[in-house]
Formats: sequence, structure tokens, C-alpha cells
Amino acid sequence: MTETSGLEDVVAADSGICTVEGEKGVLSYRGFDIHVLAERSTFEEVCFLLWDGRLPRADELAALTAEIGRGRVLPERALEWIDKAGRALSPMDALRTIVSALPETDPDAAAMEPAANRRKAVRLTGQLASIVAGLHRVREGRPFVPADPGRTHADDFLRMLGGETARAAAVRAFDVALILHADHELNASTFAARVTAATLANIHAAMTSAIGTLGGPLHGGANERVMEMLFAIGTLDRVDDDLRARLARKERIMGFGHRVYRTEDPRATHLRAMSREVAESYGETRWYDMSRRIEQIVNAEKKLNANVDFYSASLYHLLGIPRQLFTPIFAVSRVAGWTAHVLEQYAHNRLIRPRAEYTGPQYPQEYVEIGKR
Ligand code: SDX
Repeated sequence: MTETSGLEDVVAADSGICTVEGEKGVLSYRGFDIHVLAERSTFEEVCFLLWDGRLPRADELAALTAEIGRGRVLPERALEWIDKAGRALSPMDALRTIVSALPETDPDAAAMEPAANRRKAVRLTGQLASIVAGLHRVREGRPFVPADPGRTHADDFLRMLGGETARAAAVRAFDVALILHADHELNASTFAARVTAATLANIHAAMTSAIGTLGGPLHGGANERVMEMLFAIGTLDRVDDDLRARLARKERIMGFGHRVYRTEDPRATHLRAMSREVAESYGETRWYDMSRRIEQIVNAEKKLNANVDFYSASLYHLLGIPRQLFTPIFAVSRVAGWTAHVLEQYAHNRLIRPRAEYTGPQYPQEYVEIGKR
């Protein structure tokens, strides 16, 4: 195996969008620290920052919020796809399938000018939220809730999901979760989007690549498995024995470890705090308490830190989000980062085509006729 297996520490692009300083646990979007953005910004403002490279003026933020809101209003054809795919496929497979079909409904589908691609980026950011909420409603056997473009993204998503306006504390927590998940430099799904865009395939194809990549349990799919683990353990008093058994079996504990961070993932800091705050305000601290105990054991036994997927599980569960939606919700946020990277790739493009270290049979091999093999 080459020393760069998994492209560990390989710099594969120049990018001005986001950087992760693994040793220090620093994450920043366009130079703004994630802690500052989580405490003071909104998802719509972070979308502008990722796409345009600076914070918006008030009029620009209002205009983008309205444009994302209009993006949440789905074409009729998409409602048909949601109904069919929502019954037949898992939410991640359904989301990937529907996004790949959206060019049929997009007025800018064939256009590749920067302004058209920017419009598609905004439209897709609105659409993914409505598609994920719609898939949930189909799976629950409940009627689709049309978007209210006048609301903020977090508020409208939770309303489309649950069928009624969510508590203000839930909306704020979800808005922060959207900020925290919006971008993360060249993670696997973002890199997949850039590789696709670098062939000059359209932005919908790049998003399809990204969604397919995010679904893997070593990437975005971990948060769903964290909740499955919490359900399987069941109660706080069973955590110690269960974790020791998992570690004895050399099992990977989902939600821990990271390819880049060598200290705490700064996003986990906020997600842990929000999981506790929401748990205490809802009077249901069971899943948070279990998560804290698991974290103490994994820290001590494996010297591994929680990553973004660990505490998002207990937080989303308390917000009434079923675990099958955890990874699709990761995509609802990360589409902002994915599209920002695609726009950046298109603007300074060169086909992405690395090499492989050949480890196959010695060249040249003699071709032996089939009767003599
Ligand atoms: C995300 O890249 C990004 O930025 C991704 C992300 C983003 O925002 O886009 O941050 C989102 O994907 C977070 C990661 C979600 N995945 C998980 O939580 C799955 C569990 N974690 C891992 O499998 C693992 O930590 C990775 C995949 C995240 C990173 O793995 P690496 O860098 O490839 O490290 P490795 O697999 O080579 O492991 C190194 C050692 C191994 O021990 P040895 O075999 O050498 O003895 O650490 C151990 C691993 O066994 N290890 C774990 C572990 N993670 C690593 N042991 C137990 N549980 C774990 N979770």
C-alpha cells in the first residue's frame, strides 16, 4: 500500500473556501472561525459567505434568504419522484436519485455560465431541504407540507418535516447544526463533487456524486449508526459493559476519530453543548448522558475524540428527526459547501486525474490460447 493510501495529507487542490487545522482543531470558512459563525451567524449568511467569499450586507442577505426560500418550492414532477422514490428507497438513495433527475425541471439545466451555475447552487440548496422533508412525510404516510418561502431555511425545514412550526429553541439549534455541517474542505464527498465538476459535468451530476459518497458509514453515514448504537445499548447503566465488549471486538465506534483532526472536532464542541441544552430543556437527558459516558470511555481507551457525527445523533433525535434522516440532513447543509466548491472548480478548472502505483502482474504477460490454459 502506498504511503499516501487514502490520499492522507495529500494536497489535491488550491481552495479559498474552507480550511481545517487538524492539530489545533480549527475550522474556518473564508477565514471566519466556526465558533464565531456558530454563535453569531445564520445558515443563509454562511451560504452567502461560502458562495461569495465575504459576509453579505443586510439587503444581500434578505435577497439570498428569499431566493433560497423560492428554491424550496418544488416543481410538480419532483413531488411525483418524492412519492415514488420515498416508498421504494432509503432516504439517502431516494435523495441521490431525485437530485440526479432535477435537470428535467431546472430552467438553467443546460447553461454553464457562472450566473446560471450560481442560480442552480441556490435552487439546489432550497430543493434538498424540501426533498428530504417530503421523503420523511411519504415514509410516515403523512401529506406533503409545501414550503413557505417567507421563512428561514431552518424554520421552514422543521415545519415541512413536522407539519407545524417548531419551537424557537429547536429552530436555533437546527440553524447552528446547518452552519456546522456546511463545509469541511476536501472531505470525501466534496472531493467527489470536484472530481465530477472538473470533467465539466453539470452541477446536478456533481451533487449526485457527492450525495452518493456522503452515504458511506465512514463519512456522513456515521451519525445514523451512532443512534442505532444508542438504541441498542438502551440505558446508561449498560454503557460500560457494552462499550468494553465493542472495543474488545475491535469494533469501530461510530462518531469517533477523524482523518484530519488530532484534537477535538470544533463542531462536536457545539453539538455536545446543544445536545445537553435541548435534552435539559426537553427533560429527556437519557441519550445525552449515555453519549457523554461513551465519550469518556472511548477517549480513555482509544484516545479518540468525538467528531461531528457523534452528538448530532442525540440532538437530532430529540428534535424529533428519525435516524434514517440524519445523513440526508447532513446533505441538506453540506450542499452549500459542495456547490461552493463546484463553482470554484469551474472558475479555475483543470481535469482532476491522479496516477496509481502499479502493483499488478509483471509486464509483458504471454497470451495463452484458452485450450492451453
Ligand atoms: C465525517 O473528512 C471529513 O472532513 C469528514 C467529515 C466532514 O465534515 O465532511 O468530518 C465528516 O465523515 C466524520 C467521520 C465520520 N465517521 C465515523 O465516525 C466512522 C468511525 N470513524 C472512523 O472509521 C475513522 O476514524 C475515520 C474513517 C473517520 C478516519 O479514519 P482514518 O483516518 O482512515 O484512520 P484509520 O481508519 O486508519 O484508523 C487509525 C487507527 C486504527 O487503529 P489500528 O487499526 O491502526 O490499530 O485508529 C482506529 C483504527 O482502528 N480507529 C478507530 C476509530 N477510528 C479510527 N477505532 C475505533 N473506533 C473508531 N471510530
